[in-house]
Amino acid sequence: MQFAKKDILDMASLSVEEITLILDTAEKMKEISERPVKKVPTLRGKTIVLFFYEPSTRTRTSFDIAAKRLSADSVSISASTSSMVKGETLIDTAKNIEAMNADVIVMRHSSSGAPLMLAKRLNASVINAGDGTHAHPTQALLDMMTIKESKGTIDGLRIAIIGDISHSRVARSNITGLTKMGADVVLAGPPTMIPKGIESLGASVTYHVDEAIHGADVIMMLRIQKERQKSFLFPTEREYARVYGLSKEKLKHAKADALIMHPGPVNRGVEIAPDVADGPWSVILDQVTNGVAVRMSLLYLVLGGLRHADY
Ligand code: CP
Repeated sequence: MQFAKKDILDMASLSVEEITLILDTAEKMKEISERPVKKVPTLRGKTIVLFFYEPSTRTRTSFDIAAKRLSADSVSISASTSSMVKGETLIDTAKNIEAMNADVIVMRHSSSGAPLMLAKRLNASVINAGDGTHAHPTQALLDMMTIKESKGTIDGLRIAIIGDISHSRVARSNITGLTKMGADVVLAGPPTMIPKGIESLGASVTYHVDEAIHGADVIMMLRIQKERQKSFLFPTEREYARVYGLSKEKLKHAKADALIMHPGPVNRGVEIAPDVADGPWSVILDQVTNGVAVRMSLLYLVLGGLRHADY
């Protein structure tokens, strides 16, 4: 199958076949990162610009590493050091970057829809690295790769996503992607953090964590996004941890081999207890490892990899 997408903006616009191709390609890309010399010439001569207007550790670093492992040149721009502080618009900034013959712009922005706006105006490929509360498709894809690696499939699994659903682009992209791949997704959290109508994305909702994790094959905990909360949505962090945090005690309601996931960064002792985050069924660092492979796969595919090169 050829990969025909110029941009990667959300999970809704990817078909089951495209998701499968991205994950299969990522599996092959992962092997490159395990070699003594972790580099292939596949994207030599291509230029990737990392355009991040919100902080990031995992996404920005893994896109940078992914580009370098494929021999592309990568350049990083942040809002505070760009001419946007002098009043230049986002579109003008992006057009100037494109004028330097960038092939791919990887973008994170606090406004939902910012990557789509660029994608419509630029010839360069745009990859959404997280926009507002809308979407984080590359996170959902690396989560899928991690689930598939451990469980062999996504189809038919019960996957609990727990925490601050309202502010989570990770949750939205995972609900859309995982249900598309045949999973049964259940959401849990305080009523103040679960938006009305979220069921329309295909997930069911409960306000009881024990109910969500009962029989779950995968438990995905979400970070409390204090930076996006405009009012107090829970009494105290201690209270939140007691009622909605994942502890060893609560894990007794889960299957013995339930995978424990978290997109990071982790608020240890709030949404997840340290002994659970570091426990035997935690795949939190595997998610990070797979992030490099998925981003290699995406750079390769949007640059027409299947049409012109082997890796
Ligand atoms: N999961 C994730 O997006 O992490 P960063 O914010 O560190 O990129």
